[in-house]
Amino acid sequence: MPASPEIREAIRQGSWIRRMFEEGAFLKAKKGADNVFDFSLGNPFGDPPPPLARELARLAAHPPPDLHKYMPNAGFADVRQRVAEDLEKSTGLAFTPGLVMMSVGAAGALNVALRAILSPGDEVIVIAPYFVEYLFYVRNAGGVPVVVQSADDFQLDPEAIRASITGRTKALLLNTPNNPTGAVYPAEALRELSRVLSEGESRAGGPIYVLSDEPYRKIVYPGTSFYPPAAALRNTLVAYSHSKDLNLAGERIGYLAISPRAADAAELADACVFCNRILGFVNAPSIMQRAVAGFQGIDAEMSVYGRNREMLVSTLTKSGFSVVPPGGAFYLFPKSPVEDEMKFISAAREENVLVVPGSGFGRKGYFRVAYCMDPASVERSLPAWKRLGSRFFGKKGGGG
Ligand SMILES: Cc1ncc(COP(=O)(O)O)c(C=O)c1O
Repeated sequence: MPASPEIREAIRQGSWIRRMFEEGAFLKAKKGADNVFDFSLGNPFGDPPPPLARELARLAAHPPPDLHKYMPNAGFADVRQRVAEDLEKSTGLAFTPGLVMMSVGAAGALNVALRAILSPGDEVIVIAPYFVEYLFYVRNAGGVPVVVQSADDFQLDPEAIRASITGRTKALLLNTPNNPTGAVYPAEALRELSRVLSEGESRAGGPIYVLSDEPYRKIVYPGTSFYPPAAALRNTLVAYSHSKDLNLAGERIGYLAISPRAADAAELADACVFCNRILGFVNAPSIMQRAVAGFQGIDAEMSVYGRNREMLVSTLTKSGFSVVPPGGAFYLFPKSPVEDEMKFISAAREENVLVVPGSGFGRKGYFRVAYCMDPASVERSLPAWKRLGSRFFGKKGGGG
């Protein structure tokens, strides 16, 4: 067996993702892509905005002299300047280009940050339900994930977080708006978390860094607003990605920014840049750094997600499902009508509806619906959701 036991076990645990993918491909081949409702993947809907596509074409046709060369591992200084200015505007904190590192998406940013701060055996608090890769990222850096459940409405549970802090706690992974629940944490909840962490730091014997994973921060629905965790929490490292706001998921571009208020911010920034190099990322893709520089302040295109959210929340609720309406991102995390969510997932598959089990995100008895898809397809799926409602709850559903 060439793979290490740890990786073999990780593949086994993560195999449900592959299973969903394979099932989706099989069903689409058999029934036609239009007749299968694949809510399993979080691929953003649509193309990059046309001005960005034009900027990419311009850069390819007239490359600046340094475009295809090695560069500082942190990325182009003028691009980091644009990011720092945008962050200063949104958080009120004096971010500088020296505290910003362009990264290979949010995934690259998180792996770099974890590698920079963790020693083997250090603990990282992960709030469940969580983005499934977090556990692997923490272990990549020799850390130990400590899973803490959120409350029933998927908001933070300060008492549970307080109870999980030990002498080995080094960091907490925070994700707002959240994948898979769509929860957005309000300012007061973040201030309460700040109090919990400040108290916990004496027990932890040093700063507890908050890795604030924010790829969905521009995808927030009316009635909810995103409050930047860095504005409430002192020791914050912001991981951002243009995968979702500019529909660039395959291009792998984002950044890591260290709060100017974080303990030892300058040393931390140096450590992160070094780790970007030694983890083999070296630097973020050059043409994408240049392309996104002028798109820091723009809003994400939300209309499709808003329409899909309304159709699904309304139809699922009327059909009997228990759904917490998401404040942001493009996911629903309804309660499974039966305790064993795999039974519901099989029933949904019989209706050509593909969803992902909650246990993969650290909470059994739920399922995730990724609604980043064509609204016409969501609309066509509504009768199937209603049939599932009447099968499990004896309700007919409606609306939507
Ligand atoms: C919560 C969360 N964090 C990080 C990532 C990784 O983002 P990227 O692919 O842009 O690196 C994702 C991707 O779906 C995500 O949902």
